[in-house]
Amino acid sequence: MATLADDTRALLARRVVDAMRTAFGDSAAQDPKLTPATRPDFGDYQCNAAMALSKKLRVRPRDVAASILNELDVSDVCDQPSIAGPGFINLTLSDTFVNAKLAAMLADRARLAVPKRPDPSRVVVDFSSPNIAKDMHVGHLRSTIIGDTLARILEFLGHTTIRLNHTGDWGTQFGQLITYMKSECPELLQENGPTDTAAARIGDLVEFYRMAKARFDADPDFKSAALAEVVQLQKGNPDTRRAWNLICDLSRIEFQKIYDRLDIRLTERGESFYNPFLKDIVTLLEEKGLAVESDGATVVFLEGNKFKGRDGKPLPVIVRKSDGGFLYATTDLAAVKYRTGVDEADRIVYVTDVGQSLHFQQIFAVARKAEILPEQASLEHVPFGLVQGEDGKKFKTRSGAVPKLSELLDEARDRVRAELEKRAADEAAQAAANGEDAPERRSEDELARMSEVIGIAAVKYADLKNNRTSNYKFSFDKMVKLEGDTAPYIMYAFARVQGIYRTASAATGLQGNAELGAVGFTFEKPEERALAKILLRLPEVLSELERDLLPHVLCEYVKNITSRFNQFYEQCPVVHAETPELQKSRLALCQISADTLQLCLGLLGIPTLQQI
Ligand code: ARG
Repeated sequence: MATLADDTRALLARRVVDAMRTAFGDSAAQDPKLTPATRPDFGDYQCNAAMALSKKLRVRPRDVAASILNELDVSDVCDQPSIAGPGFINLTLSDTFVNAKLAAMLADRARLAVPKRPDPSRVVVDFSSPNIAKDMHVGHLRSTIIGDTLARILEFLGHTTIRLNHTGDWGTQFGQLITYMKSECPELLQENGPTDTAAARIGDLVEFYRMAKARFDADPDFKSAALAEVVQLQKGNPDTRRAWNLICDLSRIEFQKIYDRLDIRLTERGESFYNPFLKDIVTLLEEKGLAVESDGATVVFLEGNKFKGRDGKPLPVIVRKSDGGFLYATTDLAAVKYRTGVDEADRIVYVTDVGQSLHFQQIFAVARKAEILPEQASLEHVPFGLVQGEDGKKFKTRSGAVPKLSELLDEARDRVRAELEKRAADEAAQAAANGEDAPERRSEDELARMSEVIGIAAVKYADLKNNRTSNYKFSFDKMVKLEGDTAPYIMYAFARVQGIYRTASAATGLQGNAELGAVGFTFEKPEERALAKILLRLPEVLSELERDLLPHVLCEYVKNITSRFNQFYEQCPVVHAETPELQKSRLALCQISADTLQLCLGLLGIPTLQQI
């Protein structure tokens, strides 16, 4: 018997595999190729297993399909399956099954009958990870938004996530910064004063670094002082460390402002954290015979074409430079060991731009070969494409500068505000033309609050809705529109669904899931069944996200729910439904639709507003 908590697609796939095994033996129990139907007249799911099996068995695909059907028992889930075309098996969910699933969703408003995983994992999500004293740029913004959504989804499914900010808080830039600080504002190093005094004195840290670097390039004395300072930092000289801490704190204050606005929770564990472990990692690689000397440096060579350069020569992974310094790769290897060892992670996902793909492939290969990575643990790079301007070139502000993230969020907020004001003005004009009272005006506070919330949501959604592996064209004009595939539209659609539910439940006197759940669902019009079926797909959409880590799949799901809801609402009166049963059934569909939208938007990191 199907449990209601099951993911329907996975359940049917298991049943088909069982039937394939019974019909043709163990060797035939392969991928059942079960997918959502490509056309409604094919039912809800289609199974293409017969084609592949037919080649193997040398039996006509239609006959293979017939033999599978003979053994297939899905009567608790589907109507009688049918064979179509050359040998597709079409599966249509039965109304009884749909009814039972919907009732379970109705009874569980918080989780909509999506169970937590019985065998949860510990997942490290390594995301955001900007570099201290350098700009947090649009690439870091993408990583922050995508990583947060993935963490939210995994957490909802019951996994324990460790959200790590692998900040670039170590490296030669600190030698320059500290030396510059000692020369320009030595007073900051004396006291343990509040960071805001330092912030006021230093101003823009990125600009401060630019000046330090210019001095480094121009002044040989400064240069040698800065290099000596790096050594002091590594040795743990207290003065140098204090200066380093101050600089990191100043960056943190700026990063935190962005995280607060985006509602992001992260634990900072920067590169410096792994310093004590770097030497041992290199020793381990040497002992395993993987690391060798090359021109004074210590390197690891990997087999395989992907680790060869354009000239066909192997690309070594450098783990220690000839001057004894360690590298980005060494730190990442130490991090794999720490995260799988101390944090006991079984899965580590790294959310960075696609430009770092080779780096991660190398790290993963070395970690596996050196057995730094336990057998059962997995490492996954979650790459994303570049952020481009509307012209397809590198994203810049109008003045041609690299955009500051805070200014970018401000602009989204201001543009949303303009859209909201424009719409309010249109509505007022319309009312005046019709001789009606002017609609109530929003208070300044409310307008400001809504613009911020919707503006942030617009930036998030515009990013998440694209397949992350492609480049993404950043367009303020498109993302803030109240129409189309945008956050403002989706948020508005949610408010509407919620409003329809509220009005209808007040008008009918039916409230809450207890009363609604008492009645079975009736599907009088095709739009009702179509809406029900998309709502039912929630568990399998989430399973797909858990596996593939592609947030746009969730955006598409949300969009599909809103459009099916609109079609339903156009065709199916709720308050004025023909019978009390139909009224209840439709009202319950409104409630589940609103709850599902709210849940999915929450997983995308987008709050819902009751009114827009
Ligand atoms: N700080 C790096 C950058 O800005 C990203 C770090 C990603 N995480 C990692 N474990 N390497 O490109």
